[in-house]
Amino acid sequence: MAHSRFFRPSRQNRMSQRKILVTSALPYANGPLHMGHLVEYIQTDIWVRFQKLTGNQCTYVCADDAHGTAISLHAEKQGISPEESVARINIERVRDFGEFHVAFDNYHSTHSQENRKLSEAIYLALKEKGHIVSRNIIQAYDPEKQMFLADRYIKGDCPKCGAADQYGDNCEVCAATYSPAELKNARSAISGAAPVEKESEHFFFKLSDFDAFLKQWTRSGTISDEIANKLAEWLDAGLQDWDISRDAPYFGFEIPGEPGKYFYVWLDAPIGYMAAFENLCQRRDDLSFDEYWNKDSQCEVHHFIGKDIVNFHCLFWPAMLHGANYRTPTRVNVHGYLTVNGEKMSKSRGTFITARTYLEHLDPEYLRYYYAAKLSSRIDDLDLNTDDFIQRVNSDLVGKVVNIASRNAGFINKHFDGRLSATLSSSLYSQKSAAELIAGFQAAANTIADYYEGREFGKAMREIMALADKANAWIDEVKPWVVAREQDNSPEKRQELHEICSTGLNLFRLLMIYLKPVLPAMTVKAEAFLNVAPLTWQDSQTLLLDHNVNPFEPLMTRVEADKVASMIEASKEVLAQMETSSKQSESSSGLSSGVSSREWLEKDPIADEITFDDFAKTDLRIARIVNAELVEGAGKLLRLTLDIGEPEPRNVFAGIKSAYAPEALVGKHTVMVANLAPRKMKFGVSEGMVLAAGPGGKDLWILEPHEGAQPGMRVM
Ligand code: 2FM
Ligand code: ZN
Repeated sequence: MAHSRFFRPSRQNRMSQRKILVTSALPYANGPLHMGHLVEYIQTDIWVRFQKLTGNQCTYVCADDAHGTAISLHAEKQGISPEESVARINIERVRDFGEFHVAFDNYHSTHSQENRKLSEAIYLALKEKGHIVSRNIIQAYDPEKQMFLADRYIKGDCPKCGAADQYGDNCEVCAATYSPAELKNARSAISGAAPVEKESEHFFFKLSDFDAFLKQWTRSGTISDEIANKLAEWLDAGLQDWDISRDAPYFGFEIPGEPGKYFYVWLDAPIGYMAAFENLCQRRDDLSFDEYWNKDSQCEVHHFIGKDIVNFHCLFWPAMLHGANYRTPTRVNVHGYLTVNGEKMSKSRGTFITARTYLEHLDPEYLRYYYAAKLSSRIDDLDLNTDDFIQRVNSDLVGKVVNIASRNAGFINKHFDGRLSATLSSSLYSQKSAAELIAGFQAAANTIADYYEGREFGKAMREIMALADKANAWIDEVKPWVVAREQDNSPEKRQELHEICSTGLNLFRLLMIYLKPVLPAMTVKAEAFLNVAPLTWQDSQTLLLDHNVNPFEPLMTRVEADKVASMIEASKEVLAQMETSSKQSESSSGLSSGVSSREWLEKDPIADEITFDDFAKTDLRIARIVNAELVEGAGKLLRLTLDIGEPEPRNVFAGIKSAYAPEALVGKHTVMVANLAPRKMKFGVSEGMVLAAGPGGKDLWILEPHEGAQPGMRVM
């Protein structure tokens, strides 16, 4: 495995017990957990369970992210206080996490005494060192609700195309971007009143003071190169001050010495990691807050987050900690988004699946295994394909792993009173003895451990399933069912059967040790069947011989396709009842317009039905790409010059830079929408749109008509 830039514990370190604090992002307390959230919590939980299994002191904390406007509005809609609303959501959430076997050592809340104390202390330390400044800014204000409005709480008609009910600073109809002040008939999305402009004092964290520190920190093995390269774009462009205050009314902590001013939710959210740990330390003698968080701490701190909140965790957060004289994270582990059947989660397709709906239909360990099988250390999105899900779980877990136990357990119980043999079979099968086969399984422990450590869970699962294949192939060859028929009058055959089946159950036991981080509940059943104490990673180097096992009970049943279908149907109903919380997240960092995971909810990929007349209005033409070039300052766009048989070529900006080098496009024919209203963009006017297909990133293809098609021809 190539991990050169990754945090890697040394061999020495692996021998001694590591002290590791692990966190997942704190979920907002304003909606149910869903399959997207679970990618992160399951991934983290697997990593934590692996660390514990190998004997490290590993502590996993999380909390409700309780503050901010979204949370208080959610409570207001229900006619209850934010505290009450957070408490209600907490009950559901803790139950959901528990049923998915996500085992936090502590699940706390950012609205806690520990968090208030730490947030104040960190702020005051930063202020004392001159890292906090204040200045007046002008913002939209709702005169009726008497509160300032973040961009997403302002809606109105698009200044470009006139589409009604557009939020914030971009139009979902024509994709224009603008300042919220340009919206026509602007209204507060909360009260409906027309916003006014109002000035107020805000407090800023001077991130630029940490420029040199961050340039070093982001390249010190704390994050992958992939993420560090992205951050370098921001670092090179120069860091701006970060607005950390909000005016009352705001659900959060009042800033010490500044009545009526509150910490922005994203200031106290990551401090919530420390607070959750501090809260746990109060009841655990073996944990010391200071030992983990002092500037020179030898303990490790690992965060697991989604790619939409990298700036908070890899710029603001380490800078805050460094500025306030605390240690910084050992590593920030970043994952991609979830897609379901190749698309963003969609309400109308029923693929916006809540944790609860899933649990009502399917075994949580199916999902844990499926996610594990698809997870890597990279930030690629993870696709939950429902057909693949059924097939993979059934074939790997039921067909391969459980099968090994069930093929051998019956004979051991029936013929040997549940007792395993004292020795393994020494007969050779395909030139291999059972002992050699077992030794190969045991030797795989290091490779699999490396994969777990490096978050290459997909590779770990493939390695384990390759072993399961070997075990099944071996059983196919030694045929215990044939030996069983021959053993009645033959003590040798009886001994052979005993040793074969005991070997088979030992192979199964080794596989269960390797799968234990992923399948904790199934492992408990396997431990009960094997009649052993909770298995540890080190147990992979021992064998179970001359030992009594218990009667075999089915460990896992097959995924039934109709249950998956019912879950999808049920999800359509659940979503119809659920309000959209997409506009209510608070992830504006002022640094990035990056896609937020909450945007999953914002747009349903299925467009409303259009009439034939609507369709007929589209003028699709064959275009020849005369020129293609990079656009300075644009991350995704290429500037295309298109010949469509008109005297003047068209200038079109196309978001296909991730898939094509400009020179690869010149001379190609493609299809464009020729009668799209010209759109003024930051880089110039775009006079149409080229058609492309694919999920995005590298997988995006412009439509390339047959060579007979000539510029200007109509597409019909
Ligand atoms: O993006 C989110 O859902 C945030 N609630 C995550 C917070 S993580 C940490 F900083 F608290
Ligand atoms: Zn518009």
